[in-house]
Amino acid sequence: MGSRIGVIGTGYVGLTTGACLAHLGHQVVCADVVPERIERLSRADVPILEAGLDELVAEGLRSGQLRFVLGAEGAVADAEFVYLCVQTPQGADGSADLTFIQTAAAEIGPLLESEAIVINKSTVPVGSTRVVEQALGRADVSVVSNPEFLREGSAVHDFLHPDRVVIGADDQGAAIRVAGLYLGLAAPLQVTDPASAETIKYASNAFLATKISYVNAIAAVCEAVGADVNDVVLGMGYDKRIGEAFLRPGPGWGGSCFGKDIRALGRIAEEAGYDFDLLKGVINVNEEQFERVAEKVVRRAGGDVEGVTVAVWGLTFKARTDDLRDSPSLEIVRRLRARGARVQAYDPAVPRSSEDDRLTGIELFDDPYAACAGASVLAVLTEWDEFKWLDFDKVGEAMASPRVVDARNLLDRAALVRRGFELEGIGRA
Ligand code: UDX
Ligand code: UDX
Repeated sequence: MGSRIGVIGTGYVGLTTGACLAHLGHQVVCADVVPERIERLSRADVPILEAGLDELVAEGLRSGQLRFVLGAEGAVADAEFVYLCVQTPQGADGSADLTFIQTAAAEIGPLLESEAIVINKSTVPVGSTRVVEQALGRADVSVVSNPEFLREGSAVHDFLHPDRVVIGADDQGAAIRVAGLYLGLAAPLQVTDPASAETIKYASNAFLATKISYVNAIAAVCEAVGADVNDVVLGMGYDKRIGEAFLRPGPGWGGSCFGKDIRALGRIAEEAGYDFDLLKGVINVNEEQFERVAEKVVRRAGGDVEGVTVAVWGLTFKARTDDLRDSPSLEIVRRLRARGARVQAYDPAVPRSSEDDRLTGIELFDDPYAACAGASVLAVLTEWDEFKWLDFDKVGEAMASPRVVDARNLLDRAALVRRGFELEGIGRA
């Protein structure tokens, strides 16, 4: 017999959390303030691209384990556990903006069952568990921090096969009850205090971003000394202390989390009196990487892209998601357009009909070859698998000149060179 759970917020994190908890056998009610979202979800129409999520939402609705309601009230009444999964965007000074979480907590406070547990999954600065406690105003309700480590694109897999479950609580009884929700998962459980749990989340994301900036910096060195970063990374990854994961060079890291979390950690450190200089370097390397990739495209176009058509494959911040938030690809496109380039783009997750404001000024195509028509350079900016298997004879025929900047080292270099392409990757000749 599962527990009765409410989830506030049905964004990338809330929806995955709700659907996975229902799959584990709990009775889950997910709430959101956006009527259209709830209406669609109630008919199993999942508004985001996330592998396995459609199936879990359909399964939950069918079995009755999962329901969607408009407004927090319907999700909180009767719930033993309430997850907070609302957004915590970057505020004006770099710190996380807690407005949404405070508003949601103040709203549900009076509605909670006695002895309910509020579980904070949103990424929040150290000390926010206290902020939530205050906003709730309920002495009989415990607040527990339970950070998420879900990668978009494999969020369902990451939820059901986590590397660890972290629970931060002052109240051991509450921690044990929350741990009970995850009994179906074979993962190490770490129970700690709220400040440590909140720090684990920031420290992990900032470390992952550091790894990527590091490898992108190594890629720049490789280019200068004539080494091949793919081989360098392979050689580094064999060392178990380093590991091979998260060492893929690319156009720079992006997405809704890394940028805001690394800046928020910088602010947390600053307020605590520590100048976390290393993080500034990590951000700088990333900004430089956007510019380095834009420059590669300009160079391939002959030194100037004013009035030049550039084809772009991949607009999302990485493959297997439709998320455009803080996408390195869009940042590079912005820099190219600022230099006068005409950008024709294709992304399997972004339909030509998309009216997203972030795509203004980009000519969208529903076909990768059509996006290359008349282009002087093709920039591959997101690592969608399908790009590898396209017909490059056809690509070459469509382009004004067969030149490619492969910012993900995705394509088969030998095959392209054989077809007469000029190909420039990242960190390799
Ligand atoms: C999450 C986390 O919560 C954030 O802290 C973390 O760092 C990244 O992932 P995410 O799921 O990506 O955020 O946010 P988003 O997709 O914006 O979804 C938030 C949802 O909460 C939205 O659908 C919004 O309508 C809803 N919401 C917001 C509420 O239902 N109630 C509110 O009071 C505020
Ligand atoms: C991240 C964290 O991984 C996850 O644990 C978390 O809590 C939410 O934030 P996400 O933002 O979905 O997940 O994507 P992630 O897979 O971490 O990639 C982030 C960025 O780094 C992307 O732009 C991606 O392309 C880039 N990346 C990742 C690389 O450039 N190289 C790599 O080796 C890995």
